[in-house]
Amino acid sequence: MPSKPDGAENGDERSALDILSEQYSTVFEEHMRNLCGEPYEHIPPRLMEAMSYSLLAGGKRLRPALCLAAAERSGVSPGRAMPMAIATEFMHTASLIHDDLPCMDDDDLRRGLPTSHKKFGECLAVLAGDSLMIWSFGYALSHLPPQGIPAERVVRAVGILSESSGPAGMCGGQVLDTDAQSREDREDFVYRIASSKTAALIRASLVSGAMLGDITDTALQCYYDYGTHLGLAFQIVDDILDVTSTADVLGKTPNKDETQHKLTFVSAYGIEQARQMALKESIEAERAMESLFPEGDLLIDLARSLVNRSY
Ligand code: IPE
Ligand code: IPE
Ligand code: MG
Ligand code: MG
Ligand code: MG
Repeated sequence: MPSKPDGAENGDERSALDILSEQYSTVFEEHMRNLCGEPYEHIPPRLMEAMSYSLLAGGKRLRPALCLAAAERSGVSPGRAMPMAIATEFMHTASLIHDDLPCMDDDDLRRGLPTSHKKFGECLAVLAGDSLMIWSFGYALSHLPPQGIPAERVVRAVGILSESSGPAGMCGGQVLDTDAQSREDREDFVYRIASSKTAALIRASLVSGAMLGDITDTALQCYYDYGTHLGLAFQIVDDILDVTSTADVLGKTPNKDETQHKLTFVSAYGIEQARQMALKESIEAERAMESLFPEGDLLIDLARSLVNRSY
């Protein structure tokens, strides 16, 4: 786990991100540890070891925390929504294992540890990623109904997770990010990459959590818009941190995007403009939530806090 910088360094003692993390990530972490510690008769031990290695390496746990926060605001407790949060983190962790592979970003460091393929070899890393992606759907489908979540809501939420991760979501975005022949010569292409490779899953974490409870379509649309802008802001800041931060703080290799000749918000617009764009997206995110929640709600404050994050 990368070292967490002192909040005071940002002039922000306890940011909304810290509070979100305290409220939801601690309980999430405990569930994840228990899940990885269970015996699984039918899973080859080395595969379980590889999956657990990446799952327990930490990370911000942003997507599961967003899922739990949204569920709670729809009247579903974190305990009951936990399987959806776990499914979301399975999918995200899998996307990171694959993202680091030599055929993609060829990265050696992730969450402060050697990447999955460095530790277990490419074959096991590919299969650990595959397994987590597929398990995410089954996990949510089998563990949510016993929590009293009606089947039709479960199916809808899992459908959202699938849509946001598949060819029209994260995987499609990873293609736009890595495949030279898919590159389009248009100004907003970097937005297209980010909205599918990153914003889709961040949005799905929120929408799938919210829809486990009783929620109107109008309110769901607010989550959808919020998640889109929050996700874009998140990737813009990720691109900025790649050039401004260190391996110790990030837990991943800095300056990787330039080395890999990536099209990022920084390469397309420069750091200063990228910062303005992140701020603009966070303001749009706040606006989307303001009609749902009173001023001071954690999700509203989170938008600004994510832009100021340092890791
Ligand atoms: C990294 O996501 C990949 C992107 C979408 C930019 P995170 O920055 O949320 O990674 P972890 O979960 O904290 O490791
Ligand atoms: C990856 O974006 C987004 C994913 C879908 C995993 P990046 O390639 O920028 O993520 P990092 O910087 O390696 O975490
Ligand atoms: Mg990448
Ligand atoms: Mg990468
Ligand atoms: Mg990055």
